Amino acid sequence: MPGRSFVSAADFSRTEVLELLATAKALKADPRGARPLDRRVLAMIFEKPSLRTRVSFETGMVQLGGATINLAPSDIRMGAREAVADVARVMGRLCDGIMARVFAHDTVVQLATHAGVPVINGLSDLEHPCQALADFLTIDEHKDLASQPVVAYVGDGNNVCHSLLLLGEILGLEVRVGCPPGYEPAAEIVARCPRAAVTNDPRAAVAGADVVYTDVWASMGQEDSAAERRRLFRDYQVNEALFALAAPQAIFLHCLPAHRGEEVTDQVLDGPQSQVLDQAENRLHAQKAVLATLLTA
Ligand code: CP
Ligand code: NVA
Repeated sequence: MPGRSFVSAADFSRTEVLELLATAKALKADPRGARPLDRRVLAMIFEKPSLRTRVSFETGMVQLGGATINLAPSDIRMGAREAVADVARVMGRLCDGIMARVFAHDTVVQLATHAGVPVINGLSDLEHPCQALADFLTIDEHKDLASQPVVAYVGDGNNVCHSLLLLGEILGLEVRVGCPPGYEPAAEIVARCPRAAVTNDPRAAVAGADVVYTDVWASMGQEDSAAERRRLFRDYQVNEALFALAAPQAIFLHCLPAHRGEEVTDQVLDGPQSQVLDQAENRLHAQKAVLATLLTA
């Protein structure tokens, strides 16, 4: 895997994903142990805000012996001041890897095409692969992937949902999506996930599931439709009544940030079965595995 990019959750085979998860567990067990990225530099491009992604990549690079450069939209004005491909070519000469959080998925694809160094997708409008890797690390820790846990995602068929579907398929798991009509995950993603089930009935999605997952109803860039979405998504809130339909020991996951009282209630988010903080922490360990694997070419 050294030298490769991580643009989509479908970029790695099942064997490679299991290898990344094993590396993540080893790194988690000894967070300040090996420093395989001595003097390596990861440049981070942010077209959108971030807490977890920025902090976990920065912490991860420091723990692995390397460093980061943070580039806000106003710093480079990618695509306006300079073409994306030119930004990629120059950055590939100056640093050892690029992490990018972008609006258009094609931007991160172009970066990966032209940079000549590994490019990691830190969220695009289409996917959030690092999140999905951390999610399945969390699911493995609590539910053991070998026992084939059923994952139910309730809400908007968005970037987080897409990467969860793709990685779930690679791992051989059933991922069910319960979403309002018109807000299903993209048809081309669903078509690649024969084990997945998409329904407009949130109760059918959650029934008996081992993991119940939700995300905000309006993602970054969709703020204008937030009010309309609040109305359309009302029946898709993960509250105690909906969560009670899952398996008795089911865990609750949310990529965060959460809009409390919208897609999830305080009772579920702060409840005993919520593992959202393990999940947020696992961003660090999962991404360290990705960095230590890809940036050592
Ligand atoms: N889950 C996630 O990616 O969080 P941030 O947007 O804060 O990075
Ligand atoms: N779907 C959300 C995820 C945030 C981490 C968004 O894109 O805003």
